[in-house]
Amino acid sequence: MLSTKASIKLCSPTQAALLSRSVTPLLQQSALTYAGLRPLTEQHNVAIRHFSSSPAPHLKDWFPRKETEHIRRTLPAWPHHGYTEQEMLSVVPEHRPVKTWGDWTAYKFVKLCRWGMDVSTGLRDVPKVDPATGKTVMVPRILNESQWLIRFIFLESIAGVPGMVAGMLRHLHSLRKLKRDNGWIETLLEESYNERLHLMTFMRLCEPGWFMKTMILAAQGVYFNGMFLSYLISPKITHRFVGYLEEEAVHTYTTAIEQIEAGHLEKWSSQEFEVPEIAINYWRMPEGKRTMKDLLLYIRADEACHRGVNHTLSNLNADEDPNPFVSEYKGERQAPSPIAKATGFERNEVM
Ligand SMILES: [Fe+2]
Ligand SMILES: [Fe+2]
Repeated sequence: MLSTKASIKLCSPTQAALLSRSVTPLLQQSALTYAGLRPLTEQHNVAIRHFSSSPAPHLKDWFPRKETEHIRRTLPAWPHHGYTEQEMLSVVPEHRPVKTWGDWTAYKFVKLCRWGMDVSTGLRDVPKVDPATGKTVMVPRILNESQWLIRFIFLESIAGVPGMVAGMLRHLHSLRKLKRDNGWIETLLEESYNERLHLMTFMRLCEPGWFMKTMILAAQGVYFNGMFLSYLISPKITHRFVGYLEEEAVHTYTTAIEQIEAGHLEKWSSQEFEVPEIAINYWRMPEGKRTMKDLLLYIRADEACHRGVNHTLSNLNADEDPNPFVSEYKGERQAPSPIAKATGFERNEVM
């Protein structure tokens, strides 16, 4: 069967088995045949080995530290600025209403990407009876730890592209036009660095198979070139696109956090679960705040910052306006915080 073959090639053998269980019913459903479609609870309760969320000594060390004669360690180029707990807990999924045809185009394209990601990773809404009211409501399907990691890794492998492309193009523009950039480049490159750290963290928990790596390679090829052309044509629409994409990232991590809180992801709630060291060092996670939920709160807050930054940059004049987030303001006024406004700051609020 096509669906089974596709699933088996997607990742390493264990992952393939997991993915097969999630993808096969979806593909069967889309082909208008419900034969073999198992109930959700049955799919989720199948006895499977969760290789991805427990200490796994067999996993390849993807980025071992290079020992040299003189260097003790290499520090992150962009140390994380940190969050208060209140800032992280106050992040919620929000949406900037579409106002222009450019917004509409960006939003529809993001929705298409989201639909493709949902279909391929099995995250979709399913009916559930609300015990309080007795009414049937639609809720996100419960994924297991490995299914979440497949989604996170694929998502983060492309999330680091836009900032790098935009930063690179603005860098070249500045060189070519002999003009100042006004502080945009560093924020954009830092965003791509931050996204790559998300990926590196998840890579400590899961080992993708060769098919998934091929999918990532292909997606990067398409996405990089798409972003390159898009940013050349319209930085405004491209930043809006990334802003909407980050809205979806906040939504995805919120769903994962809610499933942990509801007790559906036992491996990640286990006392034995350890957050990767790279994450503890990067976010400077304090003792007693190093659970998977804590890690996802940090990552979700990062995505909320990207959401605010990109929506704001889309509202500015890309050729002339300084980057407000790294600017020093006149008088007592402080630079705005991107996490504080999900829909981004309007130009007249920050210029
Ligand atoms: Fe991310
Ligand atoms: Fe992001």
